[in-house]
Amino acid sequence: HFMFLYNFSSKQEHPSIYGLSRITSSLYLSNGTAANNKLLLFASQITAVINVSVEVVNTFYPDIHYMHIPVTDTPISRLYDYFDLVADRIHSVDLQQGRTLLHCAAGVSRSAALCLAYLMKYHAMSLLNAHAWVKSCRPIIRPNNGFWRQLVQYEYKLFGTNTVRMVSSPLGLVPDLYENEVRIMIAF
Ligand SMILES: *[C@@H]1O[C@H](CO)[C@@H](O)[C@H](O)[C@H]1NC(C)=O
Ligand SMILES: *[C@@H]1O[C@H](CO)[C@@H](O)[C@H](O)[C@H]1NC(C)=O
Repeated sequence: HFMFLYNFSSKQEHPSIYGLSRITSSLYLSNGTAANNKLLLFASQITAVINVSVEVVNTFYPDIHYMHIPVTDTPISRLYDYFDLVADRIHSVDLQQGRTLLHCAAGVSRSAALCLAYLMKYHAMSLLNAHAWVKSCRPIIRPNNGFWRQLVQYEYKLFGTNTVRMVSSPLGLVPDLYENEVRIMIAF
């Protein structure tokens, strides 16, 4: 199992050259600056851009389809309402041999959460495995705790079971995979 993860994390030996984090053969994740970089978009053959923000302004390139998901990065934002819409969109771009770039401002919370929803719905990955996968491609991902709660609900809706649980901590409800981290933070 370690070998499995190790292979994924060594897959991108030059992440700084590519700029966009490659998640699957047809899905990329990035921050807002990279999403407006024409060279990066063309180098990765992006045909669809999904803008999950209220603050990043897109540059429009005529050959690229744009979709806007206006959600702020707060734990009370409802991202759940967009899980199916965005996953279906990424899937249909894939069926047309296109490539999607999902981005928000930092490429850490909102766009990463939508990526996890897509992998669960169309790659039948558990939430736990989807998270391990995306983190190996883009180590800085960290959906906020409210998005985690919504992802846990979505996993249950899709599979009738959960691989990640929300647990109480001094910082409020956190996904169990962050539990150790919270314990260490509190200790300091
Ligand atoms: C955005 O992503 C690009 C490409 O990976 C990176 O070079 C840049 O430093 C990032 N900007 C911020 C503000 O994180
Ligand atoms: C991306 O988001 C910004 C801020 O809401 C908006 O100005 C821009 O039009 C959006 N792009 C698309 C394609 O909707």
